[in-house]
Amino acid sequence: MCGIVGYIGTDLAYPVLLDGLKKLEYRGYDSAGVALHLGDKVAVYKKEGKVSNLENFVQGKNVQSLVGIGHTRWATHGEPSDRNAHPHYSNSGNIAMIHNGIIENYAQLKEELVQKGYTFQSDTDSEVLLNFIEDIKINNACTLEEAVRVALKRIVGAYVILLLDKDLPDTIIAARKGSPLVIGIGKGAHYLGSDASPMLAYTKEVVYINDYELAIVKADELILKNLGNETLTPFVQQLDLELAAIEKNGFDHFMLKEIYEQPKTIFDAMRGRLDMQQQTITLSGIDKIADKLLAANRIIIVACGTSWHAGLLAEYVIEELCRVNVEVEYASEFRYRNPIITDKDVIIAISQSGETADTLVALENAKQQGATIFGLVNVVGSSIARLSHAGAYTHAGPEIGVASTKAFTAQLAVLYLFALKLATLKNTISQERYHRLINDLAEVPTHVQWILDTQDEAIKAIAEKYKDARDFLYLGRGYNFPIALEGALKLKEISYIHAEGYPAAEMKHGPIALVDEELPVVFVATKDSYHDKIVSNMQEIKARKGRLVAVASTGEKTLADLTSDLLYVPLVDEVIAPILSVVPLQLLSYHIGVLRGLDVDKPRNLAKSVTVE
Ligand code: M6R
Repeated sequence: MCGIVGYIGTDLAYPVLLDGLKKLEYRGYDSAGVALHLGDKVAVYKKEGKVSNLENFVQGKNVQSLVGIGHTRWATHGEPSDRNAHPHYSNSGNIAMIHNGIIENYAQLKEELVQKGYTFQSDTDSEVLLNFIEDIKINNACTLEEAVRVALKRIVGAYVILLLDKDLPDTIIAARKGSPLVIGIGKGAHYLGSDASPMLAYTKEVVYINDYELAIVKADELILKNLGNETLTPFVQQLDLELAAIEKNGFDHFMLKEIYEQPKTIFDAMRGRLDMQQQTITLSGIDKIADKLLAANRIIIVACGTSWHAGLLAEYVIEELCRVNVEVEYASEFRYRNPIITDKDVIIAISQSGETADTLVALENAKQQGATIFGLVNVVGSSIARLSHAGAYTHAGPEIGVASTKAFTAQLAVLYLFALKLATLKNTISQERYHRLINDLAEVPTHVQWILDTQDEAIKAIAEKYKDARDFLYLGRGYNFPIALEGALKLKEISYIHAEGYPAAEMKHGPIALVDEELPVVFVATKDSYHDKIVSNMQEIKARKGRLVAVASTGEKTLADLTSDLLYVPLVDEVIAPILSVVPLQLLSYHIGVLRGLDVDKPRNLAKSVTVE
């Protein structure tokens, strides 16, 4: 949520910042802005809307500066507007600041500042923090660095802040708590970003800044301190990421590219873990906490959004294969409802970004109460990865489209490995079933490739037929129920069509009232042990003139009598089938979104990484 960039070095800052903002635009696109040090002053240029608006606005303006900061906003306090766009100026006009996060005690601080005569140009909490810092600087006659340190001790909430001071032409001050900050080390230059993508073209050496750390960044020097003013040694890491991974590579949208990457990303998620010659699974994260897992009375899965859907499916699979009780929790509920947690609990945290605020805080709370945390995360070095006792990366590569696709299937691949490995450790699975499931799992990348190669055109035609529907219902049973939820979420996000996911059998307890000749009902109806039941549910919809669409297994005959709008996936074991069933639903949402003329990579009101509660 909100992307921040910074540059200080020997090149012009503005092109570096602009390029960085474009790479981080997936984090928010309500407004964008930059602040540049022009020697005698700090200039701020900002504009409501996407980064391209800023780019047009800045044309012809003075950008002769070697140091600057930039921001792309996802609005929290104050509507999207030029006024609320970052950077903000302090009251004196000497300091400019950008902020990602939320200052929870801003109202109290603002009141104190108003009484001292401060005025505010925006509705943001960020401007309050900035003036609070400036007030401390003036009153204590101290440096900006000291003022930031003092101010942050009173701040409740989350932040990454970058500041430029008119009197410090060679310095960017940065600090973080709860929101991500990476600093790239170049030759005579430093790059700052919410993630590593803005600096990838320039350096592979990065430092991930921790909570309560403050960085004094100069062109050729990086000083890291804690809020107690002790100097820390930066831990420099090598980025294992190529520039091509964050570009569209000929696809119209990142979402489509990421859907099409799935044969590879699912393979990568299992690479080095699933050994088909030995028929073994190696997950070092499980080995690390094996004693805890074997002793656990229950496993709690904590996540949000699409990652929560992966968790729900994992509940079904782990309970079935490992015979251990699993609970799946929305992180935002779990963190506030005072759950009973003990040191016997193992928590699996699932997160693409590894920065989702609700998940992060839920884990911090659970960790304090003694739980063991297993993090299933995509972004290497992210906060959740660092907080976990053990874990596994999903290795899906950067996911730029706001709607999660390849990260979801990579999560499922690793969760299947997790369940199968744990089942062997617990001795709760027969040899025969184990071998059948790992064989099916190993074939998933090939099957996904088949879906992409053979079904996309048919899916496009179905999208054309249903693109103007007002509502959709997605229904599934058993392992396919989480996929119905995920299909509905994808459609909502990308097309703004109202869609509900429901257990197919629950339909009769309410949602069936919605069915008329207008309503498309998408059944996730691959061949499984409840197949006859779901066919009956489809009959019930047909009898009420609903418009039927179904995800079906290849070779399926019964469903063809009910509808011609079938999205086929290869026939595999019912446990493994959901990882295939979701792919046509991703494509269906994508095509409907595109046909409706929407920006599928940047759907309205959303942001990729939800770093506020
Ligand atoms: O980064 P995370 O996996 O923790 O994010 C969780 C959700 O915000 C995310 O899955 C969201 O629901 C996506 N927009 C879904 O496409």
